This record gives sequence, C-alpha cells and structure tokens, in this order.
Amino acid sequence: MEFRSLLFEASEGVATLTVNRPKALNALNEATLKELQCCFAGIQDNQEIKVVILTGAGEKAFVAGADIAAMQAFDALAAREFARLGHAVFNLIENLPQPVIAAVNGFALGGGCELAMACDIRLAGENARFGQPEVNLGVIPGFGGTLRLARLVGKGRAKELILTGEMIDAREAHRIGLVNQVLPPGELLESAVKMAKKIASKGQVAVRLGKEAIDNGLEMDQDRAARYEAELFGLCFASADQKEGMAAFLEKRAAHFRGR
Ligand code: HXC
Repeated sequence: MEFRSLLFEASEGVATLTVNRPKALNALNEATLKELQCCFAGIQDNQEIKVVILTGAGEKAFVAGADIAAMQAFDALAAREFARLGHAVFNLIENLPQPVIAAVNGFALGGGCELAMACDIRLAGENARFGQPEVNLGVIPGFGGTLRLARLVGKGRAKELILTGEMIDAREAHRIGLVNQVLPPGELLESAVKMAKKIASKGQVAVRLGKEAIDNGLEMDQDRAARYEAELFGLCFASADQKEGMAAFLEKRAAHFRGR
C-alpha cells in the first residue's frame, strides 16, 4: 500500500503503520484521515495481519492533534463534517477485528490523544505527553475525546484534562490508566513489536472474540454482558484453535494455531 502521509509495513503477521508528517508533528488533516481509513479498511479484511502497531514518525510526536492550519477557516458545517470523518476512522480502528497497539513516541495531543484512545492498548515512551488542549483553541475535542477519555480514566479526570487543557506526562498517564506501560524511548517500538508478536502467536479466533467481548460487553448491563460472553465462549468451541489449544495442553506440547 502506498500513501503520502502514512508508512505501512507488515512482517510476520504484524503491520506497523506510521503517521508520517513529522514537519507538522504528524497533525491529522483530511487527507491523512482518509489514508488511515483506507489503510485500516484494507487491514480489516487481511487475514495475514494479526496485530497492528500505530505510531508517529520522528522523535517528537505521535500525533500533535488535528491540523490547526487546516481547521482555522472551517465554518460550523465543515467542522462537523471533519469531526464525523474522524469518528468514522476512529470507530473503524476501535472495531477492527485485529488488536491495535498505539506506540506513543512523543506528543499525543487533541486528535492524537483521541487516536491513541481508539486503539486497544497504549504503550508510551517516557517522553510521551498527553492532553486534550482544544480549550486553548476555543474548541472541544471532536474525534471522540469526550467519550473515550471519560470511559478510560473516569468522568472527573476527563473533565480536568478537557477543561484545563493541561498536558500530562507518561508517568501520570500511566497512573490514571490512560496508558498500559511506560518504556524508555529506545525500547518503545521493540516492546510494541514483542507484544504484537505474542498476541499474533495465540489462537486468533480467541483474540478477536476476546476483544469483541470486552468492547461490546462494556456497552451492556452486566446480565446481558454475561449472556453475550457465554455466547462467544461457546463460539470458541466451534474453532479448530480450541481443539488444538486444549489438546496441546493435555499432550504437554506447544499449540499450533491456525486462526480458525
Ligand atoms: C498543525 C502543527 C500542530 C497541529 C504542531 N504543528 N502541532 N500544525 N496542527 N496540531 C506544527 C507547528 O505549527 C510547527 O510548524 C511544527 O509543527 C513544530 O511545532 P512547534 O510548535 O514549533 O514545536 P514545539 O515548540 O516543540 O511545540 C510542540 C507542541 C506544539 C507543544 C506539540 O506544537 C503544540 O501545542 N501544538 C498544537 C497542539 C494542539 O493544540 N493540538 C490539538 C489540536 S485541536 P512550523 O511550520 O511552524 O515549523 C484537535 C481537535 C481534534 O486536535 C478534533 C477535530 C474535530
């Protein structure tokens, strides 16, 4: 796949996607959002890709937000359409069958923080900075920040970040549950690849159903979520991977999963 502001590479079941506009700290304009959309749409139908890593080019930023220069002249209608495009892309990422790991290698601000939150797992370099600084520009988050931040870190902390526009460092982001792990910058990508390969080595039917059960279950009340989990647990038993996984355990050997 060839893109102007994205780099794509895939090896051993792991695709790495890099937002590549380092001069603008990887800010998201309409063209970049559409490239992300096109790339993730291709990935969702690609059985060879088991896990995706999303990161930013350069040493300074993951993504420093939506492109402020592009947004400056928007009227209300254009702004709403831009937000809707972002929602479509970020929902695609969140609902991707494959897990997506964000390797946050610097600033993750505004739309960049929102992009990281649409991913399943966030690993951060020690140099990463997170925030929803939209209030400094006279706007609010528009790519899902008000919903995903509140769900991830709770209503009070989400309000503090969104209403003050303050940035937090990787340690604080870890403390409040916004990121899963903090790593030395030199080890970030390597750790993301290691985690991606670990996930890619498991039974992919179970990996995909596990992601689905958590995401959909969280939107249900507990009784429905439990019934839903039981349905998906049952579905696992229609897979060759379940037969292989349990046989391998009982025969004291490594499992050879085939993803079906
Ligand atoms: C466009 C951006 C940008 C952005 C940085 N740049 N962020 N361009 N949109 N979001 C550009 C700068 O203009 C500059 O270009 C170059 O990248 C380097 O940035 P500097 O500011 O010179 O770097 P530094 O002093 O190190 O400061 C880094 C920074 C700062 C703290 C990250 O750039 C910053 O505050 N950026 C804006 C962050 C932000 O407010 N994000 C939220 C956007 S609103 P030149 O050409 O001068 O070199 C949003 C809404 C989402 O995301 C929802 C939409 C619907």
